[in-house]
Amino acid sequence: MKAVLASGNEHKLRELLHALPGWELELLDADAFPPEDGATYYENALGKARFGRTLAEGWVLGEDSGIEVAALGGRPGIESARWADDPVAALLAALDGVEDRRARYVCELVALGPEGERRGTGVLEGTVATAPRGDEGFGYDPIFVPLGETRTVAELGNAWKREHSHRARAARALYASPTGGSSGDSRP
Ligand code: IMP
Repeated sequence: MKAVLASGNEHKLRELLHALPGWELELLDADAFPPEDGATYYENALGKARFGRTLAEGWVLGEDSGIEVAALGGRPGIESARWADDPVAALLAALDGVEDRRARYVCELVALGPEGERRGTGVLEGTVATAPRGDEGFGYDPIFVPLGETRTVAELGNAWKREHSHRARAARALYASPTGGSSGDSRP
């Protein structure tokens, strides 16, 4: 099945491709994306998918994700991409001296297409390291240590991430989900 991912992020594309066998997924050809102004990951993912449907035929996948830190009351959450100029340094500073390092990655996926809407949610639990380690992945990966691991996601690497990330989990949930009702934009 051909589908378009309403994102400019190659890392996200690679993680999703692995978890969606049979999907020929490619990035949306767009110069700019509308601002993320939803109140939830789902609203933002839906907004991206709806935007994609104005530019592309067939199935369009919208994705929104973030990191939720327990000691910060779940922040930065949906603000993860834009709450600081240097989000990794800002998170390390916010947790300086803090013992509770629990955090989780969350990903919400929404597919809009000829047969309606499909969605999937994925979560990866872990902790925030005290200093960056590793070179792979993107965003908070150098300081995120998944539960049961001692290495950061950036050290575990892209192959690990394709199997275990919040995004891979959301994609598998979406893949297994039935096609649901419309979100007002599921015309063929
Ligand atoms: P989005 O592009 O609005 O979904 O932004 C999500 C932000 O959350 C990214 O810019 C990263 O800062 C963070 N994030 C989401 N998923 C990941 C991940 O897999 N690794 C590292 N950071 C992530």
